[in-house]
Amino acid sequence: MHGLMFRPERASTMAAQVDNATLFLLGVCGFFALLIAALVVFFSIKYHHSRKADRSNPPTFNIPIEILWTAVPLALCLVMFAWGAHLFARMHQAPPDAIDVDVIGKQWMWKVQHPQGPREINELHVPAGRPVKLLMTSEDVIHSFFVPAFRIKQDVLPERYTNIWFEPTKIGSYPIYCAQLCGTFHAQMIGTVFVMADADYQTWAAAPSSSAVADSSLKASGETLFAQYGCASCHGARDQARGPSLAGLFGSTVHLQDGQTVVADENYLRESIVRPRARLVAGYAPLMPTYEGELTEEQLQRIVAYLKVGEKT
Ligand code: CUA
Repeated sequence: MHGLMFRPERASTMAAQVDNATLFLLGVCGFFALLIAALVVFFSIKYHHSRKADRSNPPTFNIPIEILWTAVPLALCLVMFAWGAHLFARMHQAPPDAIDVDVIGKQWMWKVQHPQGPREINELHVPAGRPVKLLMTSEDVIHSFFVPAFRIKQDVLPERYTNIWFEPTKIGSYPIYCAQLCGTFHAQMIGTVFVMADADYQTWAAAPSSSAVADSSLKASGETLFAQYGCASCHGARDQARGPSLAGLFGSTVHLQDGQTVVADENYLRESIVRPRARLVAGYAPLMPTYEGELTEEQLQRIVAYLKVGEKT
């Protein structure tokens, strides 16, 4: 029941900040809700038709009051907006040294893939004191990855990557929930984050415990797929007539056929594999076949992981 408590344990660097913002929102809303409720009761008694209240000369327009009750709520709302937007932006900009972990949601489980290879289901092992970035997608419907102890929650969408990051501060285990109604067993789409000491994590990653499956690293299996599907025949070390080189592509700005530009992030890489014609690189004919339905989300994440490393030959 611990995870269902009103204020779960704070186990990430972001937790206290999220709590402060939440308490501010609750405080402001609670104060005005009580104030308004009290005034409603007070005036309904004071001006009850059986009472002899002074009803002459009702107030019509009062400039100072109009300004006051416009400016004060506006200022409070702007504080809420700026504070919330600041936290939201921070939660989605992982530090550059974050460990990249891939997460796939499906009815009804969480599949996790670590960069060095271990795969696990409904469990996520991470080291304490290091930022972890989750790159997430769904195989079917919308899910939402929610770890109350870290104060993070992010929708996990089909056909798109979303990300969130956290830095765990306390060794222990914390529940993962799915926070988006996703079908019959939504309530059972739960898991556990295991926060370990850094040394224990290194040991675990090298030889994962029974619940996880060792696998070749994301980058290596992405490279295998890249070769297997013959990607290199058009995307070589240098630009060719048929296709641009993918070396150093990740994070760069790509000029498109329609004159627009796009930053080559994970979503762009994924889209270019499943729907190559959606945003065609300037100067190239739409020759590439679609791989939609041919590659699983796992395979797509591996290829994307390989492309992110940048050394294509
Ligand atoms: Cu997945 Cu609810």
